[in-house]
Amino acid sequence: MVGLDASILMNPKVWEASWHVSSFSDPLIDCRKCKYRDRADKLIEDHINNNWLALQQVQEKIWTDSLTPEAWTFEQQTNFLSEFKVKCPKCWNCDRTEPKKFNLMFKTQQWVIDWEWKDIYLRPETAQWIFVNFKNILDTTRMRIPFWVAQVWKSFRNEITPGNFLFRVREFEQMEIEFFCEANEEIWLSRLQKRKETCEEWRIEKIWINKGKLRFREHDPKELAFYSKWTRDVEYQFPRWWGELQWIAYRTDYDLQQHMKYSCRDLQYTDPLTWSRYIPHCVEPSWWLTRAVLTAMIDAYDEEEYINGNWEKEIRTVAHFHKNIAPIKFAILPLVKKDERQVEIAEKIFHDVSKDYFCEYDDNWAIGKRYRRQDEIWTPFCITIDQQSCEDWETVTIRDRDTMEQKRIKISEISKYME
Ligand code: GAP
Repeated sequence: MVGLDASILMNPKVWEASWHVSSFSDPLIDCRKCKYRDRADKLIEDHINNNWLALQQVQEKIWTDSLTPEAWTFEQQTNFLSEFKVKCPKCWNCDRTEPKKFNLMFKTQQWVIDWEWKDIYLRPETAQWIFVNFKNILDTTRMRIPFWVAQVWKSFRNEITPGNFLFRVREFEQMEIEFFCEANEEIWLSRLQKRKETCEEWRIEKIWINKGKLRFREHDPKELAFYSKWTRDVEYQFPRWWGELQWIAYRTDYDLQQHMKYSCRDLQYTDPLTWSRYIPHCVEPSWWLTRAVLTAMIDAYDEEEYINGNWEKEIRTVAHFHKNIAPIKFAILPLVKKDERQVEIAEKIFHDVSKDYFCEYDDNWAIGKRYRRQDEIWTPFCITIDQQSCEDWETVTIRDRDTMEQKRIKISEISKYME
């Protein structure tokens, strides 16, 4: 896999080639009374989730054979909204405009000369730069099919209804990987299956995502984007609903074909061993970074009952973040801040361990309070420097955030806890 870091603004022709300028849109409806703007498909989805009769009818495919309103025609959406008398969420009125296409591209202007400009767009996805750079990547890295290209960072969408906490935003950090492969579906499906298993292992073992909260949902044929032959969503059970965490789409050779056509460049691949020449096909996993972090936070957050030093029940707020993704790895805590020798040892440990890991130095308040503070900011290990440390100049105590167990260890062993 190779990484790419491309720009946000691109030649607008790229977005014509990729269909975004003509078709990247959502169905917009306006309430005639209060002028509230909404997405027809989301309004229907909310109604289905809260109305058993509507849910039953959708499951019985009375309205259309697709279960997802996003895939319905404008006519089907209008019929459903009027049949169920779905109200405007702001003013409870039912009088609204018919759905119309609302383009999600963020437009801006590039001044060519003083009095002339052209429309350009902030990228709505990171994927297209990977396709446009396909030939550069081949020439500079000499990768052989199959290979992956990955990119992470900002994408922008002019969402009609941003919100739902962090769920739908206009500016987000996207993570996309393009898997370039032969057109043989059997081969890439088996490779993807392996990848899925590695990904799942990583999610569960390295960031402790709860496996029971993940599910895979295959797109029904009507829901598929027109360039995709097969798409699957990875969904996560957020506290109040199942939401999309990632999508994986088989994009065929559509994108490279389009860019070949628009750029008049040859984007074919020649296999260096067999000399066969073809346009590679592509499978694409795509995520929103923040949503992925949010799932880790939801699974990590806890309010735990415990017995304190005075044998009283207390509640502590703690985030059981895996040590790999906890922002601060060690808290360095001299027990008594007026003890010069403790401070000297603590500062030395802080200086040494900070070379490899993010650490926090805290000498304020009682030690119990300091532990609580670190529990709240997910620090997996607290290192306490006490009287014995001053006597032997060799040992400290280490406290585990999750078990609250404390052990006496050698200073030289601290870093081993992160291995
Ligand atoms: N290149 C394919 C693509 O962009 P998408 O389903 O439109 O596909 C991929 O987006 C992922 O990006 C989604 O699974 C979702 O996690 C995230 N995403 C899309 N629109 C978003 C928005 N407005 N706010 C936050 N995340 C978004």
